[in-house]
Amino acid sequence: MTLRKPTLARISGVGVAVPPKLLTNQDLEKMVETSDDWIVERTGIKQRHLVEHGVTTSDLAAEAALDVLKKTGVSPEDVELIIVATITPDMHLPATACLVQHKIGATRAWGFDLSIACSGFLYALQTGAQFVGNGVHKNVLVIGMEVMSSIIDYTDRATCIIFGDGGGACLLQPSPSEQEGCFGDFLFEVDGSGGDSLCVPAGGSKMPTSQETLDKRLHFVKQDGRAVFKYAVRKMPELCVNLLERNNLTGSDIDLFIPHQANLRIITASAERLGLPMEKVLVNINEYGNTTAGTLPLALDSALKRNLLKKGDLILFATMGAGLSAGAALARWGF
Ligand SMILES: CC(C)(COP(=O)(O)OP(=O)(O)OC[C@H]1O[C@@H](n2cnc3c(N)ncnc32)[C@H](O)[C@@H]1OP(=O)(O)O)[C@@H](O)C(=O)NCCC(=O)NCCS
Repeated sequence: MTLRKPTLARISGVGVAVPPKLLTNQDLEKMVETSDDWIVERTGIKQRHLVEHGVTTSDLAAEAALDVLKKTGVSPEDVELIIVATITPDMHLPATACLVQHKIGATRAWGFDLSIACSGFLYALQTGAQFVGNGVHKNVLVIGMEVMSSIIDYTDRATCIIFGDGGGACLLQPSPSEQEGCFGDFLFEVDGSGGDSLCVPAGGSKMPTSQETLDKRLHFVKQDGRAVFKYAVRKMPELCVNLLERNNLTGSDIDLFIPHQANLRIITASAERLGLPMEKVLVNINEYGNTTAGTLPLALDSALKRNLLKKGDLILFATMGAGLSAGAALARWGF
């Protein structure tokens, strides 16, 4: 007797939520000692979107969820699981997934948050795919969403030029066949020895919020940019190459490379190592900056809007970020 029938899982739709307000490099020139030229040359970023005061991660996550449900014609009551990848939850508790469940009226769904910064969405995507793949669920929402402006110090030029708000949602469903979309192999890795190089020092159990932590601005993101950069340019291509090799693939088999949007130099270095021309690389960091767990669903949305994806295409996703953490994953596009 078989209790559950394993099946293929695929991405059936993509929704997004991006706040309309812009923070341009020219705006930042007035806030900290920096320049448009420096930011564009060192990061590739031209602007980021920021929420108006009071707009929360669950507000944006619910908007992105309703967007993908509308596009796919699935009703909120049919959603069974909601996974929200975020490091900027509305509150420490409850989980943002619970707030999203209530806001969209997904009355029969359970859910949880997944917190591993920039790698969050790719890890959540694979986690969600397991629940479809093992035959337990047919409609899983995986959301990557951030209000990074809530944890960024706009007096710190090392971080405030990089991050933005926004993200998106994917609906995962069973797939009739590999050519109609499926998840492939993945390779994930974390290295906690580099944890201090990108962190929010205060507000957790290590250093609960106090007047002193507030005065020292320790509730904001602190980053050793060079250390993170070095890890990223080494690790992201390494995982991609290892993943391709163990699947007997090369860069030329990839139709679209969708990397985490942290820094244009990290993206181009990875593409070069994979032997991929930039036409096969999704870049939208100039428009959104680094939205942490939000970058990959936003990148998928850009790929669809630019008609860069067609049924059967092989996608290579790559990520890296705080943890330190990194990952590479293969997927076949289904629509
Ligand atoms: C942050 C980052 C853009 C800085 O670029 P960089 O080329 O490494 O720059 P450095 O930190 O070496 O600094 C070079 C100089 O620029 C200065 N600088 C730093 N930020 C600046 C800014 N916003 N504007 C102008 N100058 C700046 C530094 O003070 C330094 O000056 P110095 O040489 O006089 O000391 C880069 O390190 C980076 O992108 N790192 C990875 C960050 C990341 O991806 N984080 C998210 C992970 S998911």
